[in-house]
Amino acid sequence: MKIFSGIRPSGQIHLGNYLGAIKQWIDLQKENECVFSIVDLHAITTPYDPKELKKDILNTAIIYLAAGVDPDKSIIFVQSRVQEHSELAWLFETITPMGELNRMTQFKEKSKENKDYINSGLLNYPVLMTADILLYKADAVPVGKDQEQHLELTRTIAKKFNQKFGDTFKEPKSLILKEGAKIMSLTDPKRKMSKSDDKKSYISLFDSPEEITKKIMSATTDSGKEVKYNITKKPGISNLLTIYSLLSNQTTQEIEKMFVKKSYSEFKKSLAEVVVNYLEPFRRKQKEFSAREIYVEEILNQGKSKALVIAQETIQEVRSKMGLS
Ligand code: AMP
Ligand code: TRP
Repeated sequence: MKIFSGIRPSGQIHLGNYLGAIKQWIDLQKENECVFSIVDLHAITTPYDPKELKKDILNTAIIYLAAGVDPDKSIIFVQSRVQEHSELAWLFETITPMGELNRMTQFKEKSKENKDYINSGLLNYPVLMTADILLYKADAVPVGKDQEQHLELTRTIAKKFNQKFGDTFKEPKSLILKEGAKIMSLTDPKRKMSKSDDKKSYISLFDSPEEITKKIMSATTDSGKEVKYNITKKPGISNLLTIYSLLSNQTTQEIEKMFVKKSYSEFKKSLAEVVVNYLEPFRRKQKEFSAREIYVEEILNQGKSKALVIAQETIQEVRSKMGLS
């Protein structure tokens, strides 16, 4: 299969991004042709600081590498450095009905969060995402659950293009995990873990052991005493159990058994240990790659060259089918 996915280089990458998206990438790259992008053109649709963005782009590349994306197996590149993404997005915008974009949940949420920053890039965000995916004619897109609606639109646009201009694109499917597709906030387990929320609400992949322990120990739990999975009655404990289970490869039932007659605080202490240990190699590799910025830039340059070959071929085909050249 051809796989495409991306993450916005905005601030920290958290455990939700890892468990929902990146963890799947690492498995998929073993047997598939994978393209993973740092989607900076998406990042600028919400308020940002240009100086920080430059650093965040490099840091996101380091995160991909530290998490195990292998540049010998997968293409890693920065979206804005392959201009075909913007061009294809424009071409798709001409066949995308406004109504489809207005109803997107992410657009509505982000418009509410940033009332004085509702730009047309934010509205067209899913069309650029469609261009990202179809430029590489991907079969499948590993993402968290919040992106499913955008993937539906991608299929709609692919179908519409094919009907209007002749068979060109496949309709890519989304790869969404059963567990981990939606990791919730540590401070408000009814909201998804998000990097635009308060730092206490998420665990960054590179938090220090002390920070991780502090955040988990103060995570919101529920009334009652039992460590039991119950999404409606115990959303806080259930979210922590999901994280425990995914990082320790044990089922939630097995973990519940370990904590029968034990307190929330004993459970949290143990979870903090699990998270600290799991993330230890990430912290180590991050330090290593951070000291080798030139090497990381070289990987991004090579990724760009490889991505460009595929992107240019698709754009030529599209231009010609649309009567542009
Ligand atoms: P973003 O940070 O919005 O660029 O998201 C990058 C990837 O992480 C996308 O595939 C999202 O669906 C996924 N993701 C973001 N937040 C979560 C979460 N709380 N739980 C699971 N996956 C998530
Ligand atoms: N929109 C995605 C998010 O917010 C990021 C993204 C941009 C993406 N382009 C993509 C994800 C292409 C998968 C494929 O998380």
